[in-house]
Amino acid sequence: MNIIETVGVKRTFNLGEVEVQALKGIDLRVKKGEFLVILGPSGSGKTTLLNCLGGIDSPTHGTIKVEGVDISSFKETKLSEYRRNKVGWIFQFFNLIPSLTAVENVALALEMAHDKKDMMKRSREALSLVGIPDKANMFPSQLSGGEQQRVAVARALVKKPKIVLADEPTGNLDWVTGNKIADLMKDLNQKEGITFIVVSHDTSITGVADRVIHLMDGQISNEKINDPKAKKVMGEC
Ligand SMILES: Nc1ncnc2c1ncn2[C@@H]1O[C@H](COP(=O)(O)OP(=O)(O)OP(=O)(O)O)[C@@H](O)[C@H]1O
Ligand SMILES: [Mg+2]
Repeated sequence: MNIIETVGVKRTFNLGEVEVQALKGIDLRVKKGEFLVILGPSGSGKTTLLNCLGGIDSPTHGTIKVEGVDISSFKETKLSEYRRNKVGWIFQFFNLIPSLTAVENVALALEMAHDKKDMMKRSREALSLVGIPDKANMFPSQLSGGEQQRVAVARALVKKPKIVLADEPTGNLDWVTGNKIADLMKDLNQKEGITFIVVSHDTSITGVADRVIHLMDGQISNEKINDPKAKKVMGEC
């Protein structure tokens, strides 16, 4: 079953006289529970595509169906409801709030979604899920880059989203730590059945993907389905 289906998605930015066609007609189907990696050079439209899929931005043409519902026609209220309830985000620079502890950073995602029941307990559970229950009361500055990204993964997961969108999640980590985060995401994808769409320049992340697509100049230029039998053995997270 497809959780996401896009047809002819275009996104054009008008900068006065100049028009930038960031996406030039994306037809993409993502299966429920799939781990999809999107590769592509800088400026090829990766972030623009994620933003459209995550309801941060809307396409100028085409449709994006999520679980059969066309979100590209949503007005702001429904779009923000979609963002709040269905999507978790992971970013390159973690985007944690420095004055909040790890568990408070995770809890903030629930607070913003007005979903405060057992908020701290659920946030601690999310930190356990990503392997750092002992870091709950530490501030981001007291954590390593890998640990900060684990907090960010916990924050993305605490709302139990159906889809996690990650924009260069290993881009600010060394190779070994990046691989551990990739393995953690894959583990969560398999255990929790969450659909992951991960944008990366980092070809090592393709090892955990079910499918890899390449974006080139706003279009899908190539697609490769990974052989499940050849899948990377999961390391300790
Ligand atoms: N808000 C915007 N206004 C104008 N142009 C934009 C905007 N966002 C993106 N673009 C343009 O759209 C194109 C695609 O940008 P995008 O950020 O999606 O690329 P990317 O593949 O994520 O690149 P990178 O790997 O460097 O992050 C670029 O030419 C960019 O300048
Ligand atoms: Mg980008």
